[in-house]
Amino acid sequence: MKLVIAGSRPLSGVVKVAGAKNAALKIMAASLLAGGVCRLSNVPRITDVDTMLGVLRGLGARVDVRPDGSTMSIDPSGVDRCEPPEELVKEMRASIQVMGPLLARLGYVRARQPGGCNIGPRPIDLHLKGFAALGAKITEERGYVSVRAEKLKGAEILLDIPSVGATENIMMAACLAEGTTVIRNAAREPEIVDQQNFLNRLGARIRGAGTDTIRIEGVKSLGATDYAVIPDRIEAGTFMVACAMTGGVARIENVIVEHVQALIAKLREAGAEVVEGDSYVVVRGPRRLRAVSIRTLPYPGFPTDMQPQFVAAMSVACGTSIVTETIFPNRFRYTEELRRMGANVRVEGRVAIVQGVMALSGAHVEAPDLRGGAALILGALVSEGTTEIAGVHHVDRGYEDLPGKLVKLGAAIERVTASERQVG
Ligand code: EPZ
Repeated sequence: MKLVIAGSRPLSGVVKVAGAKNAALKIMAASLLAGGVCRLSNVPRITDVDTMLGVLRGLGARVDVRPDGSTMSIDPSGVDRCEPPEELVKEMRASIQVMGPLLARLGYVRARQPGGCNIGPRPIDLHLKGFAALGAKITEERGYVSVRAEKLKGAEILLDIPSVGATENIMMAACLAEGTTVIRNAAREPEIVDQQNFLNRLGARIRGAGTDTIRIEGVKSLGATDYAVIPDRIEAGTFMVACAMTGGVARIENVIVEHVQALIAKLREAGAEVVEGDSYVVVRGPRRLRAVSIRTLPYPGFPTDMQPQFVAAMSVACGTSIVTETIFPNRFRYTEELRRMGANVRVEGRVAIVQGVMALSGAHVEAPDLRGGAALILGALVSEGTTEIAGVHHVDRGYEDLPGKLVKLGAAIERVTASERQVG
């Protein structure tokens, strides 16, 4: 599957943002803790959600997805296996987010160590340290990790780094522990607040998500609930950048404006106009953006998941931008492909130096990962000529039809299978 994109058209119109991938995947995992059937809505229709459905079913949960694809009911009562399907853990790192719930529910979980991925090694040492602090026994052998605990006991845990996944996995395990758990230096992402809200609706007693200290008072058991996932701030940010860099004007709806403040500040600094509504933003791009520099940081700093898209915008801005990636050691792979499109970007370790050019030019490129793929699509929008992008499956993991939504904003994008291309 490829995308064929004819460039240099300003975007305009209205686009609705879907539910947050990085909230939905964890809330689906957290539903394993429930004492009954949970109905989730506003779940994004993306392939990572399909993978997580496979994980839950593989563990013995019953999952029914409504025809609209974004409402589902999850019944964990039949969960009797304590090992997420290995091939799915390999495919999607977020599968390890079922470890906390399985440890709490069954007292044992075994999983394949998730491999690194295209943005760098993705260890889970902080997750395991948290489980051990709660009294679990960890054994690691031949690439697998087993975690066992007769009874989890509340503990004080300080995370070496504010890891999103570790914060969430520990929070889930601690819900049914005996006594109180305190997580210090916790990640503060909005998706963690969403998970706290879901768990509290099940009857958990958690306070402090969104700050760097989260307190969980263990309870004996949890109930069930219906729950709507928050909107995806990274999808929203992707459309905001797309509009700003193509000199267009668009209204992006279903946005929690509070969640995209770091991006709004940077887009304004770069010369875009951003109007903040109560649940939408309107972005108007200038004729040409000014180069601004960014440094990715844990929330509420500039999100690493917006770094590639922002570099694509800076590649046609006026001036030089310095982009520092402090979260992942290897999140610039997509810049090789941007260079093939004429971008002048040089990477030195964790820093990319981007010298803006007037326009990129169409090329045949390949998406290396999810957000890198989004960056190449945005680059193609401001290219002269036609760009072909392979590896679209990466983009479909985390965006609900990004190409289709961009077409609705006026972009010229065709999704073609490799065979069609040969004919064409
Ligand atoms: C979540 O990944 C997101 N994924 C990522 O989004 C996001 O980039 C990341 O948080 C940071 O915001 C999901 O929520 C499914 P971390 P996660 O644990 O939890 C190191 C996207 O594009 N680390 O906060 O895996 C780790 O290697 C994806 O939607 C350890 O060293 O991120 C990384 O360098 C990409 N040991 C840093 O911490 C650990 O035990 C941050 O990782 C855990 C993490």
